[in-house]
Amino acid sequence: MSDLVRCGVSIERNLLEEFDTFLEEKSYSNRSEAIRDLIRKNIAVRQWEEGGDAAGGIVLVYDHEKRELSETLVDIQHHCLDIVVSNLHVHLSEHHCLEVIVVKGGVEKIEKLANELQSQKGVYHCAVARVATG
Ligand code: NI
Repeated sequence: MSDLVRCGVSIERNLLEEFDTFLEEKSYSNRSEAIRDLIRKNIAVRQWEEGGDAAGGIVLVYDHEKRELSETLVDIQHHCLDIVVSNLHVHLSEHHCLEVIVVKGGVEKIEKLANELQSQKGVYHCAVARVATG
């Protein structure tokens, strides 16, 4: 069971109104959960900025018809077995594939892998979802 602590926060009225609008847009039912998520998000960002170990997902959209691209993307991942955890492939359309590569390990290695995948001709989008390991 988590050790839940209550704490009060002073905040300008207009900032709180903006925050409540944000909560509504994001479908939060209360402020506490939204604040906890924002704190976790900042911890994850710090974890990534400081290096060390982290986890995340590399999301790619690429040209299914580009010769040998699929094989190249798989080859690149085979050289990073220490950080590639899992892989999800979706045939988006007749021409496009979407791939989510779940990664865990050194931030530098993860960023290097994402850059290498993104730089391949025929890869249209590459986004890295950065989350904390804890
Ligand atoms: Ni496909």
